[in-house]
Amino acid sequence: MKTILTGIRVNSELTLGNFLGAMVPMVRLANTHSADYRINIFAPDLHSIISDIDGDLPANITRSLKYYLAAGLNLNDNIHVYRQSRVPAHSELCWILNCVASMGDLSRMTQYKDKSEGKESVNVGIFDYPVLMAADILLYDAEYIPVGEDQFQHIELTRRIAEKFNKKFGDVFTLPVEPKAQIKFMQLNDGLRIRDLQNPEKKMSKSTASENSKIMLSDTPDQIKKKIMSATTDSVGKIQYDMFNQPGISNLLQIDALVNDIPLQDVISTWAGETHYGDLKQKVAADVATFIDNFQRKLATISDDEILTLLEAGEAYANEIANNKLHEVQKAFHLR
Ligand code: TYM
Repeated sequence: MKTILTGIRVNSELTLGNFLGAMVPMVRLANTHSADYRINIFAPDLHSIISDIDGDLPANITRSLKYYLAAGLNLNDNIHVYRQSRVPAHSELCWILNCVASMGDLSRMTQYKDKSEGKESVNVGIFDYPVLMAADILLYDAEYIPVGEDQFQHIELTRRIAEKFNKKFGDVFTLPVEPKAQIKFMQLNDGLRIRDLQNPEKKMSKSTASENSKIMLSDTPDQIKKKIMSATTDSVGKIQYDMFNQPGISNLLQIDALVNDIPLQDVISTWAGETHYGDLKQKVAADVATFIDNFQRKLATISDDEILTLLEAGEAYANEIANNKLHEVQKAFHLR
């Protein structure tokens, strides 16, 4: 059985960008493929501690996992949910892969450059982040990794690390498929990058200070309306999808397609020839508010106990698979 695997950091409440970029695609894939694929959903708590935790880490983990269920994930025996730190093989494989990965590769990672830009000093975890991510993926021979476009560089790096390792030691690791094939598997035209509402050249991010830049999953309909109505657009005066020249308008079209679960092309056709940006904003604000309202209603019906039961079973499974793979790797290095 092939494996589909993803994780979302648990530093804080999620943005609509995280949700539409990673969680919704994962839920869609899990619901369509869980009869014949293993589906691994984990909370990367060790990746989360590279920066401050907003709130309480265990509570954030439970909340984040509840989100998958509220987003419509249908559970079955092929779906496994676990916390990264409860599977110690992730940290050990990360160390071993540190001895394979190159400093040059890691220092070229955009996320590292963004997070370290202008700072006098950053922690080593921020630099080493993609190697732990490679361990998360390679331990389970995962091939499909539904993530937003910003993480594709880390998937490429995982492939390079695995290739280098396999070349030296034989076919120990399965390579995740390359980003283009990931996009195809997710049934998207492009990688997903939901934009910052105020500054649509950038991705919507939890760490952006401006509240109007991001929609949080806990926002009220009034907050959503205010944020979308004040979104930055352009002076072209045509509603069309052109991420290069009209990133703000294109972002709204993209969001509308995702919250209504319809192809982007259909949304683009609906608005073709229209010129009133205010009408588009009203429609997107109403659709996002309905989407988040439905999501919050479902969320309220899921208990913490349900998540804890899932985690216990998931962690037993994950430790077994991960320890077997780690053992193969340790043997390759004569550590066992
Ligand atoms: P994190 O928490 O930074 O991001 C979680 C996911 O959300 C996606 N994302 C977006 N997608 C579209 N538009 C946006 N504006 C946007 N902002 C965030 C990210 O691409 C990501 O998919 N490194 C991962 C966590 C991780 C992981 C892994 C994922 C650790 N190990 C192994 C897969 C496999 C991350 O970016 O988390």
